[in-house]
Amino acid sequence: MCGIMGCVGKCDVREVILNGLAKQEYRGYDSAGVALREEDGFRNIKLVGRVAELRRLVEESAAKESTASEKNGGRTLSGIGHTRWATHGGVTVTNAHPHESSDGQIALVHNGIIENAREIRARLETEGIVFVTETDTESPCQQLAWLYKEHGDALRAMTELCNSITGMYTLVILFRDRPGEIWCARRLAPLVAAHADGVSYCASDPTALLEYTHDLFFLEDGEMAQLTADGCRFFGFDGKERKKAPIRLQWDSAMAEKGRYEHFMRKEIDEQPNVTRLTIDAHTVVTSVGMEKDLKLPEGFMRGIRRVRFIACGTSYYAALAACNLMESFDNTLDVRAEIASEYRFRNTAEGNDTLAVFVSQSGETADTLAAARLSQSKGTRCIAITNVRGSTLDREIEHTLRTLAGPEIGVAATKTFTAQLCLLDLLVLQLLKYRGTLSAGDEARLIGGLRVVPAQQQALLEREAEIEALAEKYADSKGFFFIGRRESVPLTLEGALKLKEIAYLPSEAYAAGEMKHGPIAMLDEKLTVVALVPHDDLREKMLSSVQECRARKAPIILLAAEGDEEAREFCNDIFFIPKTERELFPLVGVVPLQLFAYHTAKTLGHGIDMPRNLAKSVTVE
Ligand code: AGP
Repeated sequence: MCGIMGCVGKCDVREVILNGLAKQEYRGYDSAGVALREEDGFRNIKLVGRVAELRRLVEESAAKESTASEKNGGRTLSGIGHTRWATHGGVTVTNAHPHESSDGQIALVHNGIIENAREIRARLETEGIVFVTETDTESPCQQLAWLYKEHGDALRAMTELCNSITGMYTLVILFRDRPGEIWCARRLAPLVAAHADGVSYCASDPTALLEYTHDLFFLEDGEMAQLTADGCRFFGFDGKERKKAPIRLQWDSAMAEKGRYEHFMRKEIDEQPNVTRLTIDAHTVVTSVGMEKDLKLPEGFMRGIRRVRFIACGTSYYAALAACNLMESFDNTLDVRAEIASEYRFRNTAEGNDTLAVFVSQSGETADTLAAARLSQSKGTRCIAITNVRGSTLDREIEHTLRTLAGPEIGVAATKTFTAQLCLLDLLVLQLLKYRGTLSAGDEARLIGGLRVVPAQQQALLEREAEIEALAEKYADSKGFFFIGRRESVPLTLEGALKLKEIAYLPSEAYAAGEMKHGPIAMLDEKLTVVALVPHDDLREKMLSSVQECRARKAPIILLAAEGDEEAREFCNDIFFIPKTERELFPLVGVVPLQLFAYHTAKTLGHGIDMPRNLAKSVTVE
C-alpha cells in the first residue's frame, strides 16, 4: 500500500516524480504529496486528493517562480513523492506524506507500518521535539533528523535509524544539506531502484520506472541505497557496502498504459485470451506425440509428498481453490487444501519436507502471503511461488518460481492475472499429478487440448459484451447479489461476488449452492438477485434444483448456462450462455462474464472502477 517515487539527476525531476506517482496511484489514493529539493530548500506540496490535483498544485506553485528554467523544473535537484493508503492517522493534509522533521533537515516518505513509532515519539518528545502529525511515519523522520544532527554522517544515521525502528517499511529520504542525494531503505515492503543517463530513480513498483530503463535493482530486506546522478550504491543495515546486479524486466512501458480504453480494468479483461495463450505456449512444448507441459521442476519434486497446500489471499486464493479442486479430482490419496495466507500463518498446521506449498500472488508483495511463505520455508516445506512480478519479494525468496505472463496489471480489481494464475496452476497440477502417476495419458491429452481452445472461448465471450452490459444495467438497482455454484464453480462464485463488492460496492455473497437452504435463503426476496452458474456437467440437475428453490422465494435469477442448454431458460429471468468446456477448465472461461458484469454494474452506478475506495493494489501491510 502507498506508492513511492524518488528521482535525482539531470532531468525534469518534478515531472518524473509526478509521472511516477500517477503510475502508482492504484497503490493508494487517500492523499498525495511531493518534496522537491530546489536550490534554496525543500518545496513540500501535499493534499487530500488524487495525483492529478497534486500536479495542478505543483504546476501552480512553479508558475509563480520567475525564470523559465524554474518553471520547467530545471532547478529541482532531487525529489520524492508519495501516494497514500492511510494506516495510522486520518486522511488529512497534515498526515499526508512527505513528512518533514521539525529542524527542516529531513523530508521522508514511507510505505508500511513502524511498530515502535509510539516509543520513539515518546522518547523524542521528552527531548523537546514537537510532533505535528498522527502518523507512525513522523517517528522515523524525527529520529533520523536527531541521529543526523548527532553524527553529521548520512550513512551512519541511516544505519542507526534502520536498526532502531521495527515493523515493515520502505523509506525514501531527502536531506536538506545533501541536495544531490536520495537515501532509501527497505524492510518487508517493496522498493526498486535504477540508474540511466545521469539520473537515479526509486519506486515501489517497477512499472513506474520502465519508461526510463528496464534494468532494475530490487532491494532486499535489510538493504539501503544512496542514489545520486552518478549511480546507485547499496548498503546492508550493518552499514557495509554491497554489490548488486540489476535484473532486466522485459515488460513494455506501453503495457502499463490505458490506450484506447476508458479503464485499465476493461483493457485487462480484454487481454485475457492473449495472456492465456502466452501462458500455455510458455509452459508447454510440442513433441512428436503431442503436447507436453514443461514447467522445469525437478522430477523428484513430488517424491515423498503427502500434503499439498495452495496458499494465497483474495482473488489469488480463489485461483488456489480452483487448483485444489483440480488436484483432488485426480488424486484422492493426497491431503490437498487451499489456505488463506492471513490465517495459515497463525495456525499450527502440519508441514515440513513431506509437504508441498504453492504460494500464489500476483504482486509477489502481499504481506500475509510472504509471511506464510517464510514460515513454510523455515519448517523445511518444499515451496513453489506463482507470481506475476519478476523481481518481487516472493519471486526472489522462493527458489522455484513460476511466472504468470499477464504483464503489468494496474486495475485494483484483479482480472487477467486471475486467469493467468488459473491457467498456470492447471498446468502445474497436471505436471504434479503426472509425476505421481495419477493422471492418465487420456485425461492429460483431454485437458491440454481443452486448455488450448480456452483463449478462443474467452474471446467469443468478450465479443458478446453487449449482452452482459444490458444485464448489468437491468439489475444494477438490486439491493444485493448471491452467486451460487457447485464444485468447479465455487471459486468463481467467490470471485464474481468479490469483483462486485470491490468496484460496485454492492452487497454480494457467494455460496456453494447446497448451502443456501442452511440459512442464506432466508434473505431472498424480489430485490436480491441470484447469479447461478450452471455449466454442462454431472451437477447440472442439482444446480437447477437449487435455482428453483431460490426462484420459489421470488429472487430474480440470472443463469450462466452452457451453450445449447435451452431447457435451462425456464428456470430463470435471464440467461447468458457460456461455451462448453472440459469440466475442470470451466473457471477459466466462466469468469469472463462475471468480470464484465461487475465492470458494467460499477459503470452503470457511476463508480470510478480502477481505484475503488478504501483499497490498494498490493496489500503490503498485515
Ligand atoms: C483482487 O481483485 C483484489 N485486489 C485482491 O483480493 C488481491 O487478489 C489480493 O490482495 C491478493 O493480491 P496478490 O495476488 O498480489 O497477492
